[in-house]
Amino acid sequence: MVTYNVSLANKVVLVTGAAGFIGANLVKRLLNEFDSVKVIGIDSITEYYDVRLKYERLQELSAYGDRFVFIKDSIAKKGVVDSIFTDHHPQVVVNLAAQAGVRYSITNPDAYIESNLIGFYNILEACRHYTVEHLVYASSSSVYGSNK
Ligand SMILES: NC(=O)c1ccc[n+]([C@@H]2O[C@H](COP(=O)([O-])OP(=O)(O)OC[C@H]3O[C@@H](n4cnc5c(N)ncnc54)[C@H](O)[C@@H]3O)[C@@H](O)[C@H]2O)c1
Repeated sequence: MVTYNVSLANKVVLVTGAAGFIGANLVKRLLNEFDSVKVIGIDSITEYYDVRLKYERLQELSAYGDRFVFIKDSIAKKGVVDSIFTDHHPQVVVNLAAQAGVRYSITNPDAYIESNLIGFYNILEACRHYTVEHLVYASSSSVYGSNK
């Protein structure tokens, strides 16, 4: 049995990276397990891997009707992030929008600066300025400490 340390009843949850692998599965689980939860999802649908997979996940989530609101845009745009907070007032934020992968960063460093630095910074700033009860964010899947 899972013990929750955050009450999710009647909460609005913002999930960034909502069309991604973890994001889409999290949205589905939140909507299945908590009848009174509403989820706002944002994803810019990057082409790091086949976007058809992302659209299929979103298609599946559309079955939840107006309990799931999807915004196709980037968290790197401060105005977009701010308007989500002023329009929807999320109390819980889960930041999963990111450029993943290690080797890709050698050839495409811009993508990491945009999503993982600027985008994450915009989320942190919005959580600081609006009333947010809880913020969860993903760490790297590849933390190397001992290689040269
Ligand atoms: N999958 C794993 O095994 C794993 C393990 C540890 C940590 N993580 C971390 O969890 C997070 C999510 O991983 P995932 O496997 O779901 O990756 P994913 O690539 O499937 O999902 C990330 C989503 O974020 C979106 N995105 C990227 N930049 C964006 C931006 N600027 N604005 C809005 N959306 C944007 C992408 O389009 C994508 O759909 C990442 O930070 C990843 O490093 C993943």
